[in-house]
Amino acid sequence: MPGQGSPNADIMFIGEGPGFNEDKQGVPFVGAAGQFLSTLLASIGLSRETVYITNMVKCRPPSNRDPLPEETAACAHYLDAQIAAIAPKIIVPLGRHALGRWFPNEPIGRLRARPRVFDGITLFPLYHPAAALHNGDLRSTIEDDFLKLGALLEDLGDVQQQPQAWAAFAPAPERAPAAVVEAPENPTTPTAPAQPSPGVPSEPDEPPAQQLNLF
Ligand code: URA
Repeated sequence: MPGQGSPNADIMFIGEGPGFNEDKQGVPFVGAAGQFLSTLLASIGLSRETVYITNMVKCRPPSNRDPLPEETAACAHYLDAQIAAIAPKIIVPLGRHALGRWFPNEPIGRLRARPRVFDGITLFPLYHPAAALHNGDLRSTIEDDFLKLGALLEDLGDVQQQPQAWAAFAPAPERAPAAVVEAPENPTTPTAPAQPSPGVPSEPDEPPAQQLNLF
C-alpha cells in the first residue's frame, strides 16, 4: 500500500503502517484513526485530496504489531522515493515510528508540534491520531497540535489551505496550486475560534483522492 493523495502536495503525513483494512483496500488511514485524521485535516482547511498520506512500512505487520526495525529499513527506499517524487514542503511524522526516521531516540511527546527544518523540508511531528483512540485525554492535545500546524501553514502563506473551511471546520473542496513555503522558527498560536470536539465521525462521504501509485 504505497499511499494516497496529491502528487503536488505541499504536506506529507507519514503514519506507521497499514492496518488490516488499509492493506486490503490499498488506501492509508481508512479506519477510525483515519476518520479522525480526516476530521483533523478539515479543521485546518485541508483534505485528503490536497495532502499526501503514506506510512513508514508499506505492508501490514502480522497481528498489527509494531513494525520491526528491519521492516522499516526494508521499506525506507520506497519512502525516500515518495519524498523525492512529491517534494513536500512540510512532512508531518505521525507518531514515534515515523518520528524515528529523523529522530530515532527522541520521544514524540517532546518534539511534537515544533517545526524543524531538514534539507529544506520542514518537519512538524504530531501524535499519531490513533493515540486519541487509546487515550481520550490526548484528543484535545492532538486537536490543538493540528491547529498549530494550521497556524504554521497560515504563517507560511500556504494556499492549499481553505480559509473558510479552517474557520467553519468543514471539509474543504478544490484547492488552488500550492505556494512555496518557508518555515519560521516558531509558529504562532492559531487565531481561529475554538472548535467543538468533533468526535470520530462515520465514514466520510467524499470522492476518493487521486491515487499516486509510485510502486
Ligand atoms: N495507522 C497508520 O499508521 N497507518 C495507516 O494507514 C492506518 C493506521
